[in-house]
Amino acid sequence: MLVTGGAGYIGSHTCIALIENGHSVVVADNLSNSNKDSIEKIKHLTSKEIPFYKIDVSDQQALENIFANHHIDGIIHLAGMKAVGESVEKPALYYTNNLVSTIMLVNACLKFNIKRFVFSSSATVYGENKVPFVETMDLLPPANPYGETKIMCERILTDIAKVNPAFSVSILRYFNPIGAHESGLIGEAPNGTPNNLMPYVTQVGRGKRQYLSIFGNDYLTVDGTGVRDYIHVMDLAEGHAAAIEHLTKGVHVYNLGTGQGTTVLQLVKAFEAANRVTIPYKIVDRRQGDIASCYADTSKAQRELGWTAKRDLLSMCRDAWRFEQNFQEA
Ligand code: UD1
Repeated sequence: MLVTGGAGYIGSHTCIALIENGHSVVVADNLSNSNKDSIEKIKHLTSKEIPFYKIDVSDQQALENIFANHHIDGIIHLAGMKAVGESVEKPALYYTNNLVSTIMLVNACLKFNIKRFVFSSSATVYGENKVPFVETMDLLPPANPYGETKIMCERILTDIAKVNPAFSVSILRYFNPIGAHESGLIGEAPNGTPNNLMPYVTQVGRGKRQYLSIFGNDYLTVDGTGVRDYIHVMDLAEGHAAAIEHLTKGVHVYNLGTGQGTTVLQLVKAFEAANRVTIPYKIVDRRQGDIASCYADTSKAQRELGWTAKRDLLSMCRDAWRFEQNFQEA
């Protein structure tokens, strides 16, 4: 199995889940938002060799070199840029990276007769639909290039699969992955200031940052703060293994979430209770582009993949904190 973005946060956990399910894994990653250390840690945790290629997956020659050297029976494509704000400032960069890499990989699949493809999409494609989000809903373009690239890649894959019946595609729409591997060895270690909530919270807990800014408390939710469907990253990773196992011809779309909505304040309280640390916070203005509520209808993944998220919010908080405490910035 080739995992693009396999050194990153979701990718490294996915490599572990795949190996635990009996797959061998090759990783391609340009390390733009990750570190090669995570590969060493996956090797340590699984006692398996993991061939690693530091390449851009949009580099056709470099990709073909991988296919020439390894027997690749499927691709899990997670490499991509994901900072919403940056995508608004640098749309050309986002469209080039996220679209070209996907197209190059699909072309390679067709050329090398690789029949299984799993794509990392996002709940962002639902925009402001009514919660819970169901796979059959019309997609509402979010007002940023990052979200557009997810919708566009979904369409590209769907069109290509339509005329290549042997090519099977699973599109996974992630909700909000948080937490870390239970060992505390791998987890989310963003470069620079975190954009996402949990890494920000753990850094406040550590004293690396003074306080958490909560983006708005005037949403129509139980306590006014935004509602999200937080999912343990290992559950999400196991969702990829289930998607590969159950992949049949055609294009299949699955939500990977828990189906539970949690507000920002509830998450902060759960984190404080789970880890006995205090997270100082201030309420600030809403962040542009945020929506009030986002959570999944998870019945399709349960029905067709036999997969559900198993770990609760307290484990997510504990595991995120364990990793933060172990993590030494390079
Ligand atoms: C964000 C992206 C989403 C992307 C995902 C993965 C936006 C609008 N959405 O999801 O498209 O797929 O990351 O990178 O950026 N919050 C705070 N303070 C913080 C950080 C977050 O209050 O410092 C709040 C947010 O307003 C939101 C919740 O926490 O209500 C979760 O935020 P975040 O972790 O950034 O995820 P999303 O915004 O859901």
